[in-house]
Amino acid sequence: MTAESTPMIVLRGVEKRYRRDAPPALAGIDLEIAEGTIVAVVGESGSGKSTMGRMLVGLTTPTAGEIEVAGTPPEPVSRRRRGRERPAQMVFQDVYGSLNPSQSIGFQLAEVHRVAHPNASRAERADAVTSLLERVGLRPADAYLRRRPDDLSGGQRQRVGIARALATDPRVIVADEPTSMLDVSVRREILDLLAGLRDDGVTVVYITHDLLSAGYLADRVVVLHRGTIVEDGEPDQVLGAPQHPYTQSLAAASPGLQLELGHDALAATDAANDEQDER
Ligand SMILES: Nc1ncnc2c1ncn2[C@@H]1O[C@H](COP(=O)(O)OP(=O)(O)O)[C@@H](O)[C@H]1O
Ligand SMILES: [Mg+2]
Repeated sequence: MTAESTPMIVLRGVEKRYRRDAPPALAGIDLEIAEGTIVAVVGESGSGKSTMGRMLVGLTTPTAGEIEVAGTPPEPVSRRRRGRERPAQMVFQDVYGSLNPSQSIGFQLAEVHRVAHPNASRAERADAVTSLLERVGLRPADAYLRRRPDDLSGGQRQRVGIARALATDPRVIVADEPTSMLDVSVRREILDLLAGLRDDGVTVVYITHDLLSAGYLADRVVVLHRGTIVEDGEPDQVLGAPQHPYTQSLAAASPGLQLELGHDALAATDAANDEQDER
């Protein structure tokens, strides 16, 4: 096997039971995710999406099975030490709850950078924070460094959440419902920002109950239902022509989905017509 064909994320027989007397949150999960792809994990509330995401970053551990991210099992967050490599980082739905309201954005990003790169000089750290802010579209960075979370819009705060995740140079970003607290008008900007990360080679696990956004963003869609994977494939197929009754009901309950996918369907039709014209 060549280095390129080794998946960035591997789950084998993964199970998670929070309680012995309740059905498992996840069971029998087998999944491989290639580097540099965006995989949407979709399903209703309670289907196990967040549990899967939290496992990938070490916020919770499986009760059975194996997980590897970038070739190693995720290190439990509680045991982490400064300066250790952290292959996967999480972007949360509610970034506000995880930012300190009394500290500037620049200071908070510098602190995260310090944990991951304890030996960087002051100047290196300042440069890194500036480029992080610019990378997430907060330009010019100088205009944001001294602002506090309250001085930012919801969309800008979520950009800071993404910048903070990127501060440790992760190979994988797990974004759990990253736009569900945002105004509809800025959701697509955040999705486009995540799409840009893939172009930089970052692997993105996009967790959402919103099929429309999954169809817009993802290269691949994995459908979770009661803790198991019921469907897995390209968005056009999984969302446009779902095979499993559960996915069919999700798709039927998602107005506008066919329209969203329709852009691609139209493009495919155009391409087919062009081909015919050439004959
Ligand atoms: N910390 C926890 N303790 C006990 N049960 C939990 C915990 N977190 C999640 N669960 C249960 O696990 C199941 C899956 O939850 P979750 O992964 O949060 O799903 P989703 O993100 O798809 O809504 C649900 O039944 C939920 O109640
Ligand atoms: Mg969740």
